[in-house]
Amino acid sequence: MKDLAGRVAFITGGGSGLGLGMARAFIEQGIAVAIADIMPDHLASARVALGETGRCHFIQLDVTNRAAFARAADEAEALLGPVSILCNNAGVGMLGSTQTTGYVDWDWVMSVNLGGVINGIQTFLPRMRARGEGHIVNTSSIGGILPGPGGVAYLTAKAAVLGLSEAMLCDVRGEGIGVTVILLGPTASNIHKVAKQRPKLYSDSGLAAFEVEFGEKPIIAGGMDPLEGGRQVLKAIERDQLYLFTHPEFRHAVQQRFSAIMTAFGPDTGEPAATESHGFPTFNPLFAEIIANSGKN
Ligand SMILES: NC(=O)c1ccc[n+]([C@@H]2O[C@H](COP(=O)([O-])OP(=O)(O)OC[C@H]3O[C@@H](n4cnc5c(N)ncnc54)[C@H](O)[C@@H]3O)[C@@H](O)[C@H]2O)c1
Repeated sequence: MKDLAGRVAFITGGGSGLGLGMARAFIEQGIAVAIADIMPDHLASARVALGETGRCHFIQLDVTNRAAFARAADEAEALLGPVSILCNNAGVGMLGSTQTTGYVDWDWVMSVNLGGVINGIQTFLPRMRARGEGHIVNTSSIGGILPGPGGVAYLTAKAAVLGLSEAMLCDVRGEGIGVTVILLGPTASNIHKVAKQRPKLYSDSGLAAFEVEFGEKPIIAGGMDPLEGGRQVLKAIERDQLYLFTHPEFRHAVQQRFSAIMTAFGPDTGEPAATESHGFPTFNPLFAEIIANSGKN
């Protein structure tokens, strides 16, 4: 998407961390920003941090509440104008192994980290389609492509956000709508304060005591400045770039995962491609296009 100045963005989880970094970077470019967040204290400190720097509006929103999401969209558009950039960024940084993660933990993390993204798309995509343009940014994680120990529900949700973004782009790109998925690496934020964010509904969890301890100090010491992340997101929107890897040092680990996956096929025996043998498109046509266009921006 070009000509970003004067447009309107809606950022979930915009009161803190990467969301606030995106808000600051967008405002620098003359984009008006609606900042939606569940935590009143995050909204209050974002209001102070952004001050009079640009056009912004603050909305308290739980992204799992679909009716409230629609109302927040109406409110943002009535005050700032049509939203052409949606950042589905709200997330909770719940850690827990497969053995320690219970139903309440799964339900909470999936409803926010995946459900919140789905609700954002369901709310704003019809509005963007009616106007024939828009860009949707979904915050996954480097963990969404590098699943490992100790965060099974979080990593599952983030992997789903990656798959959702890749699938969605095939569906919407003919309609003038772009998609970016952020494979975000370590970033300075409040993500460790997960205990503060756990709703009462999901409090019957064996992870709760650990979360209190975990919230005492940031585990991501030396993480990226969120403003730098926000500026990277802006460039990705301008370039209409699907994948945004913020931390190049993860290249080797991602390469290793894909090499491990490919070894499972065994040696290439020259069989015909699946489209020919199955007679319908079985793979994402964007992959070939992305490879062909790489280096052109
Ligand atoms: N910080 C990192 O290193 C890192 C790495 C990979 C991915 N991420 C992802 O980046 C995104 C931003 O997180 P962050 O690190 O800036 O953390 P953060 O806690 O500083 O910001 C997340 C914001 O989301 C809000 N939020 C939580 N639940 C919500 C809900 N139900 N409805 C609306 N808002 C809600 C929080 O109040 C908070 O302001 C998240 O999706 C997170 O999973 C972070």
